[in-house]
Amino acid sequence: MKKLIEKLYRENYLNTDDMLTLLDNIYDPGNMNYLLARAHETRMEHYHTKVFMRGLVEFTSYCKRDCLYCGIRASNRKAERYRLSSSEILEACAEGYELGYKTFVLQGGEDDYYTDDRVVEIVGKIKERFPGCAVTLSIGEKSFESYKKYYDAGADRYLLRHETASRTLYNKLHPKTMSFDNRIQCLKNLKEIGYQVGAGFMVGLPGQTNEDYVMDLHFLKELQPHMVGIGPFIPHKDTPFAAEGGGTVETTIVMLAIVRLLLPEVLLPATTALGTLDPMGREKGLKAGANVVMPNLSPVEVRKKYALYDGKICTGDEAAECRKCIEGRITNAGFSVDMSRGDHKTWRSEQYVY
Ligand code: 5AD
Ligand code: FES
Repeated sequence: MKKLIEKLYRENYLNTDDMLTLLDNIYDPGNMNYLLARAHETRMEHYHTKVFMRGLVEFTSYCKRDCLYCGIRASNRKAERYRLSSSEILEACAEGYELGYKTFVLQGGEDDYYTDDRVVEIVGKIKERFPGCAVTLSIGEKSFESYKKYYDAGADRYLLRHETASRTLYNKLHPKTMSFDNRIQCLKNLKEIGYQVGAGFMVGLPGQTNEDYVMDLHFLKELQPHMVGIGPFIPHKDTPFAAEGGGTVETTIVMLAIVRLLLPEVLLPATTALGTLDPMGREKGLKAGANVVMPNLSPVEVRKKYALYDGKICTGDEAAECRKCIEGRITNAGFSVDMSRGDHKTWRSEQYVY
């Protein structure tokens, strides 16, 4: 197995058979430690101990979609819904700016209240008020034209996880109104427009196999995204998947480490979902090659309402508390906080306007 890990480390690629062999044998402690060590080495070579901080603003819990795994799916009548006004969003960013954040991630359900004009207005105001900061949007599937409008308004990055690269599994997780092809097309459109793009997938979905993970890994290698979000699936009690098992820390960490080796320069968050499964989950993620964390800047009153899964951490902490807590965790794990914009290495500075 060490030979295969060595090959992945040197060539940043494994074919389907080799990748499957690796996944089938990786839970042996010797193999696992070897993989994690190589992922850590690769991260040190490209990013040293740096961990980039992004301030996350969850600005709407309304969603018109009905993904079976998600707590804010449209048919969850028990979900508490809220929307932040543009001034509340700006206020959250201002608090983040004071704390040193240079990247704001605006995430929400697919909520038609935020028309293109409203999104453009919000992005424009953030860029105007906080010059030099990056704006990341994470608001789901939109048309090419809408993505272009947000980009022209100053949005720098866009997160849209592909969720799973297995078409069969994708169709089991989503209602018939959603299409795998459209999701992939959205990611291609975002790249074409010029965004720094984040794709990604969940781990431990109902029925998900090592063959499915191989598809995710190869899909990412081909897409070459700038960022990859990987988190464990965690069941939400008011969804059709309430009784399913969910992902593990081990599998999530294996996926992080392999993605670090496949895409050595990728920006890879240690996700909140990983921190929810295990109090030391994010630290374990950092040690497996992750180099981004996304502390929450949402107003504390709404935090609990953005419940994609059960047991989400950090729902009671003010932005400043989260900032301090994360910083402590990062340094205790042997890494260092980097408060710069944290663009992808291939990003040319002339591509954005201050
Ligand atoms: N468990 C873990 N992650 C989830 N997401 C949605 N629902 C869940 C869940 N139950 C993830 C999806 C989505 C991101 C914002 O949150 O991958 O893209
Ligand atoms: Fe909101 Fe899927 S339930 S995007």
